[in-house]
Amino acid sequence: MEKHASPIIAVYPGSFDPITNGHVDIIKRASGIFDRVIIAVAEALHKNTLFTLKERLDFVEEAVKDMENVEVKPLRGKLLVDFCKEVNASIIVRGLRAVSDFEYEFKLAWINRRLHGDIETVFLIPSEEYAYLASSLVKEIATLGGRVDGLVPKNVAEALYRKKEEIKRKGTGEVHEQSL
Ligand SMILES: Nc1ncnc2c1ncn2[C@@H]1O[C@H](COP(=O)(O)OP(=O)(O)OP(=O)(O)O)[C@@H](O)[C@H]1O
Ligand SMILES: [Mg+2]
Repeated sequence: MEKHASPIIAVYPGSFDPITNGHVDIIKRASGIFDRVIIAVAEALHKNTLFTLKERLDFVEEAVKDMENVEVKPLRGKLLVDFCKEVNASIIVRGLRAVSDFEYEFKLAWINRRLHGDIETVFLIPSEEYAYLASSLVKEIATLGGRVDGLVPKNVAEALYRKKEEIKRKGTGEVHEQSL
């Protein structure tokens, strides 16, 4: 059918400060469904991020290096729907954890549809073990001297341990990410 003649490209946006195994879980699922997945790492100026955009991009790159149809790009100074148009994506992928994500994600999906009606938001649910995992949570654990092994990729865990004092100064940045 003509509908499937062109490859389906999906964008997975977020601040990824830093990438967690919950994000990786969603990326793997998306990569199995769509022809191409582009991870859009938002500059997220309002979030006072712990890691620079470059560091966040590098961590994501490392985490997806074996996934052939996945690529990583920065999202800076533009609407997500405009980014999607530029890369010919017709799908926005978001992850849904417990009920707490629902209202915010519903609002975002609605506004993105208003801004660009042809782009659909698709929600994916992670494996149960990651259902409560968030970047802000791993930062909080690391600040208090806890172990984050198994929650984030190994290189990210090491970086978090190194940044312990900086997280204390900056906080965990738990505000909603740039998704517009
Ligand atoms: N453990 C997870 N399972 C499923 N989806 C997730 C998970 N963590 C994040 N996501 C989803 O990934 C997208 C990007 O999230 P984001 O980069 O803000 O990560 P976050 O973990 O929510 O970080 P923060 O705690 O700083 O808000 C959102 O759709 C979010 O719901
Ligand atoms: Mg979030």
